[in-house]
Amino acid sequence: TSALEEALLAAIRTIPDYPRPGILFRDITTLLGNARAFRRAVDELVHPYAGSKIDKIAGIEARGFILGGAVAHQLSAGFIPIRKKGKLPHETVRVAYSLEYGLDEMEMHVDAVSAGEKVILVDDLIATGGTAEAAVRLLRQMGAEIVAACFVIDLPDLGGRARLEALGVEVRTLIA
Ligand code: PRP
Ligand code: HPA
Repeated sequence: TSALEEALLAAIRTIPDYPRPGILFRDITTLLGNARAFRRAVDELVHPYAGSKIDKIAGIEARGFILGGAVAHQLSAGFIPIRKKGKLPHETVRVAYSLEYGLDEMEMHVDAVSAGEKVILVDDLIATGGTAEAAVRLLRQMGAEIVAACFVIDLPDLGGRARLEALGVEVRTLIA
């Protein structure tokens, strides 16, 4: 592991049995609260795309908003929120998805992205990949070109990366 990976790993807190017994929850609030770790994570997410034209960053509720907002600012891109159902005020497209511990629906505004726009998907963590796959489906439904899906944390045992790669999405993660 690199010095960067060590620093990011050290900044993440692990909570046993949250939100359900048997789940080892990787809590990034400690990373976000650490100025140096937060900056390093965002810089590392951004650097492959510096200088390329990215139209929009799509962030997944809720922690993907924090990282995605910072990434959008650094790339001078717009930001699109992908949210749990019922939170967006305008007309939406909606897709059902299952996650590590439950079932839900994701929504995006119908006019959030135009056909052909280059979009990077951002979230804090990929587990089963169900949430990210739902976001990919919403973006592609509106004709977006997904340049990559980027996460700080990969939980490799849960197979999310392979699931997204099977959809033809390039996946970038900083630590496992
Ligand atoms: C977490 C995480 C990802 C998703 C990953 O969000 O931030 O969005 O789960 O799981 P998956 O790869 O198995 O789909 P959560 O559902 O806890 O929502 P929150 O950020 O609103 O708390
Ligand atoms: N941490 C944060 N979000 C998650 C996790 C986790 O361990 N597993 C699934 N979503």
